[in-house]
Amino acid sequence: MTYQSMTDEQLISLRGSLMRQYEIYASDGVKLDMARGKPEKSQLDISEGMLSAIAENGDCMSDDVDCRNYGGLDGLDCAKRFFGEVFDLNPDSIIIGGNSSLNMMYDTIARAFSFGFCDSERPWSKEPKVKFLCPSPGYDRHFAICELFGIEMITVDMQKDGPDMDKIKRLAETDSAIKGVWCVPKYSNPTGVVYSDDTVRAFASLNPAAPDFRIFWDNAYAIHDFDKNIKILNILDECEKSGRPNMPLVFASTSKVTYPGSGVALMAGSAENVAQIKKLLAIQTIGPDKMNQLRHVLFFKDRAGVAAHMKKHAEILAPKFNAVTDMFEKELSGTGTASWTTPKGGYFISFDSLCGCAKEIYELAVGAGLTVTKAGDTYPYGKDPNNSNIRIAPSFPPIEQLRAAVERFILCVKLASIDKILGERK
Ligand SMILES: Cc1ncc(COP(=O)(O)O)c(C=O)c1O
Repeated sequence: MTYQSMTDEQLISLRGSLMRQYEIYASDGVKLDMARGKPEKSQLDISEGMLSAIAENGDCMSDDVDCRNYGGLDGLDCAKRFFGEVFDLNPDSIIIGGNSSLNMMYDTIARAFSFGFCDSERPWSKEPKVKFLCPSPGYDRHFAICELFGIEMITVDMQKDGPDMDKIKRLAETDSAIKGVWCVPKYSNPTGVVYSDDTVRAFASLNPAAPDFRIFWDNAYAIHDFDKNIKILNILDECEKSGRPNMPLVFASTSKVTYPGSGVALMAGSAENVAQIKKLLAIQTIGPDKMNQLRHVLFFKDRAGVAAHMKKHAEILAPKFNAVTDMFEKELSGTGTASWTTPKGGYFISFDSLCGCAKEIYELAVGAGLTVTKAGDTYPYGKDPNNSNIRIAPSFPPIEQLRAAVERFILCVKLASIDKILGERK
């Protein structure tokens, strides 16, 4: 029965019993966290062998390079070959960075503001206005970078197979102030959407008004499948074919493969992009952490080693995602109060309440001891036009704690929905 079809009396009575339970939750002191996409401890433990990989190897050499020493600006050759195989990238197109791909994205924007790209007319800081297209719901930290640099963000709706490409094409091809777009092409944060081949080709065939328009292709979840390995088209190849090789910049990392905080991050692009970035990087650093690159290569050995490892992650993560969506299905399906995504990989579930309820759900959840991603955070400037989207991150709590957290969350959804429906009837 939908809540909308219930009488006022039925809703008030239901609200009373839900509220009694809420008050117990609000006062029991239990604290549960499902805010950020952090791996659980057991996921970190499966990379333990990496800690001894170098000691077992006997030395710190790779292709005659002593990894303990300075140098190797864009990464070890063996690491470029290895990550090229894992992420389907030409080793020559790769620059290996530190531990964070987000850091590389930030640096890329910062370089664009200070120096411009190889095809820029001037540094972005000298442009009267810089705008970015932001498929949403999306990743709050992408939006935070834009906000910090004063980049005007334009929200573009996410659809089942990627962003609204008609809107992206119309805007990017007519407004030369639009300099870029954020993309999480596989298991998008937070919707779990996987870009279709048509979407990837539509990106590659863009003819933007800005000569230095860049697609920030943040492939953070490239190999994070639960079951079937899904392959998306390679944006670098597609843009090469369409004659715009400089348009895409690919980012990835092993943050959610080995250790967030001690993984290896990389970016990839055209020969011209890579040459310009390396020239600037040479002033910024003498080289990244090659020992970390080496231990990753030694630990995994090859693509098959990574695939076997990702299967272990999936065995921990998939039951958690199923637990959340099963509970939503059981408690909220048919109530007319919510919808949610059921991703087949990645780290997030996107939850949509009735329009206008997300902030109240968030406030109620905080009051019930839950840490959840703030309502609005999945949209530019923290402004969800429908006030309905909340990102659920099931990975961090052990499964029993996750179930307890989702139980509380569902209660909050029910309470906020009843308040909204009764409020509209007044
Ligand atoms: C889409 C996306 N990109 C990047 C990151 C962060 O990546 P890294 O740890 O490599 O900085 C995350 C982390 O949640 C993410 O969801």
